[in-house]
Amino acid sequence: MMWQTRSVGSAETERLGEALGRLLKAPAVLELKSDLGGGKTTFVRGLARGMGSPDTVTSPTFVLNNIYHSKVEPWKIHHFDFYRLSEPGLLSDQLRESLSDPKVITVVEWSRIVKDVLPDDRITVRLQPTAGDPEERDITFEYPESRSDIIKKLETEWITVKP
Ligand SMILES: Nc1ncnc2c1ncn2[C@@H]1O[C@H](COP(=O)(O)OP(=O)(O)OP(=O)(O)O)[C@@H](O)[C@H]1O
Ligand SMILES: [Mg+2]
Repeated sequence: MMWQTRSVGSAETERLGEALGRLLKAPAVLELKSDLGGGKTTFVRGLARGMGSPDTVTSPTFVLNNIYHSKVEPWKIHHFDFYRLSEPGLLSDQLRESLSDPKVITVVEWSRIVKDVLPDDRITVRLQPTAGDPEERDITFEYPESRSDIIKKLETEWITVKP
């Protein structure tokens, strides 16, 4: 299943992430896809805030993965980025651990080398620049039936939070 919307500017992408962060409960898996600088980490910044986390969201480049704790929910986000790795190695073991932890929302950027590890029950978010404005992104959510309730809610909420 699929839902597509458009964001104009990073603040809007963050707000969309934030709306999903308010709705999503652990366990859950989010796969983020775009070219370099497409807005994946920006989306995660909103996601963490929506879950109630005061933690700073950065690209997990020099650490294995970033963890964002929530002040209100009993779950947390594990944020992975496989961009620099040609071989998943130790990070793949960490990913497996996250995926088996019911208290974790697992978020993955540059998932290509671990795509066999990711479950079918995941939401894939694709960000694509549009032909015109460099601040515009077409954002597509691909999801299984089991996640259709949450995406419907996101769609409804987006109408009210999108300016
Ligand atoms: N609509 C938009 N949504 C998200 N980011 C946008 C948008 N318009 C412009 N930008 C800019 O694009 C950049 C996105 O950077 P970000 O780190 O989120 O991308 P990324 O996909 O995580 O990159 P990488 O592949 O390097 O991890 C930021 O500089 C942001 O300000
Ligand atoms: Mg990133």
